[in-house]
Amino acid sequence: MINWLTVESRDCPTPQRMLGPEERMCYEGLHTKKRQQDWLLGRAAAKRLVLRHLGARGASLPLAAIRVVNDFDGAPRVVPAGLALADRDICAELSALCISISHSEDRSLCAIMTGTQSTVRNLQSAIALGADIETIASRGRGFAVAYYTADELAFLGAAPIECYDTLSTAIWSAKEALLKFTRHGLRVDTRMVTCLPAPPERDGWASVAISTKLTDVPVVGWWRVFSDHVITIAAGVGGEGALGTETSPALRPAFSDKGEPCRIISTDCER
Ligand SMILES: CC(C)(COP(=O)(O)OP(=O)(O)OC[C@H]1O[C@@H](n2cnc3c(N)ncnc32)[C@H](O)[C@@H]1OP(=O)(O)O)[C@@H](O)C(=O)NCCC(=O)NCCS
Repeated sequence: MINWLTVESRDCPTPQRMLGPEERMCYEGLHTKKRQQDWLLGRAAAKRLVLRHLGARGASLPLAAIRVVNDFDGAPRVVPAGLALADRDICAELSALCISISHSEDRSLCAIMTGTQSTVRNLQSAIALGADIETIASRGRGFAVAYYTADELAFLGAAPIECYDTLSTAIWSAKEALLKFTRHGLRVDTRMVTCLPAPPERDGWASVAISTKLTDVPVVGWWRVFSDHVITIAAGVGGEGALGTETSPALRPAFSDKGEPCRIISTDCER
């Protein structure tokens, strides 16, 4: 099951209400106001989504009991903090979670995938995935020529003109999602990945055919239009450590219906 959540900036809690002491220091050390806003908005989506995941399993924790740190390559990781440190199972669950975060202008996205049983009681661990959100915008032919593969350019060339910006945004977003899944980020040439989005589904997810030599794990991609954004998710199927049996028929993985825009209400911050 892929769980995802978006948060709009108007619904983002203040740093004082959401962050623990270490996170406050990290937040205050960020160089620009814009970076602070993006960082905070991403944490709001991640914390809220992880709390939902734990809440569905009977655990109730405040937002500050979850920290999201970045590994050396920038990939986010959840670590327990505060009250969560008192519960060994919760610590194990949080440490096993794989998440992906993205921000674009006034909205952030977090996604997690759950599916396999962990060794800790009946808790679930999550599986790696990459997620991205992009505002639909005109990127122009020059952008596509610089960053897209021949197959992607041919695909866009055949697309109806009124769909060009949406499909071009979906290609770019899917590339970023895949490059988060593999953890390369934009350190590699974006033409090492080809992403071809299927026609959009009304209020739902459509597939993205992804081909790349950057990973041996077969990867599937999904995309959707959400408000004036495109959201994409790339996740592994089959292969070692990829989807468990519950979800592996999941060349079309199930998506939670809880990804709708979420207002973070004050009670969440006060628990
Ligand atoms: C991963 C990357 C493509 C994301 O692009 P972006 O324009 O920042 O876009 P998004 O908002 O969608 O994603 C940002 C999130 O990606 C995640 N991320 C960063 N590097 C990642 C990596 N290597 N693998 C997976 N996820 C990564 C982080 O959670 C980050 O948010 P946070 O820093 O607030 O926690 C880009 O940051 C990148 O290429 N990073 C690697 C190269 C690098 O370190 N550059 C430094 C800047 S010059």
